[in-house]
Amino acid sequence: MSDTVSNETTVAVEERDPSLGPGDVSTGPAGEINGTVPIIFLDNVSVVFNTRTGSLFHPNKVQAVKDLTLRLMPGETLGIVGESGCGKSTTANIMCGLQQPTSGTVYFKGEDVTKRSAAQRRLIGRVISVVFQDPATALNARMSVHDQLIDPLNVHSVGTKDEREKRVNSLIEMVGLPGSVMEALPGQLSGGQRQRVAIARALALSPDAIIADEPTSALDVSVRAQILNLLTDLKKELGLSMVFISHDIQTVRYISDRIVVMNRGQAVERGSAEQVFNNPKDDYTRLLLGAAPSLLHPDLGK
Ligand SMILES: Nc1ncnc2c1ncn2[C@@H]1O[C@H](COP(=O)(O)OP(=O)(O)OP(=O)(O)O)[C@@H](O)[C@H]1O
Ligand SMILES: [Mg+2]
Repeated sequence: MSDTVSNETTVAVEERDPSLGPGDVSTGPAGEINGTVPIIFLDNVSVVFNTRTGSLFHPNKVQAVKDLTLRLMPGETLGIVGESGCGKSTTANIMCGLQQPTSGTVYFKGEDVTKRSAAQRRLIGRVISVVFQDPATALNARMSVHDQLIDPLNVHSVGTKDEREKRVNSLIEMVGLPGSVMEALPGQLSGGQRQRVAIARALALSPDAIIADEPTSALDVSVRAQILNLLTDLKKELGLSMVFISHDIQTVRYISDRIVVMNRGQAVERGSAEQVFNNPKDDYTRLLLGAAPSLLHPDLGK
């Protein structure tokens, strides 16, 4: 690509992307900041769904995501927060390659994958893993924990048979489960243990990033903090990037470096976790902060 083209793109991206800090320069078309390539870069992405409520020739359209530009940089945790239906899961699905945008461009580690080929889909599968709200849907009810964990290693022919067995053992240890769960079926485990198995499975192929879409909302209150701490520890130990999605702004704050607040498919506010909490610029962010009881900032939202 010639210099002229990338310069033009750079200007356009910076104009659209208020997430760039004062010292940040976007140095290339794939969303690079100061020379660092984002793991994921969504460039002005929109998603429109046709819904069944309209007639055949006049379908109703839902704009789930609108003109969204965001980056996931190496090693950071990006929090996405907003009320139900604001487009969080649709954004997550675009980020992990499950959903194609109606318009806009998606980059993985500098590569345009908007119209992805089979090879690119495999790349995305290894770079990005997803942890869903309900671990029961992510796991096969008829497969033992051991078999669920070795499955992705077999599919991608990782290492020798011995190495794969070792990897399964270390995955179980990593997520703080006893070796005795190996032969258990998901139904025999507690909700928290099941989510640990789902996290271990997500880590099996050593991804660069994990997308966690409401990973604690289906869990008992008493184990939520444990799962959050596990995700934070793993992220630090393994140098992972993480996208953490929740409707609960307090949880997002606890875990994130940077936060994007979404409302009706758009990013209405973004900044460091500190900025968004201590100095929210947008009315909707203030509303979210006000709706969540906070012992730290009891006056916010009044
Ligand atoms: N496959 C689909 N077909 C039609 N409409 C959809 C589809 N998926 C999502 N939508 C609509 O797009 C909008 C955004 O949905 P999305 O699931 O991304 O929201 P969300 O923020 O994840 O909500 P929640 O917090 O409830 O999980 C909603 O209005 C939803 O009804
Ligand atoms: Mg959702």
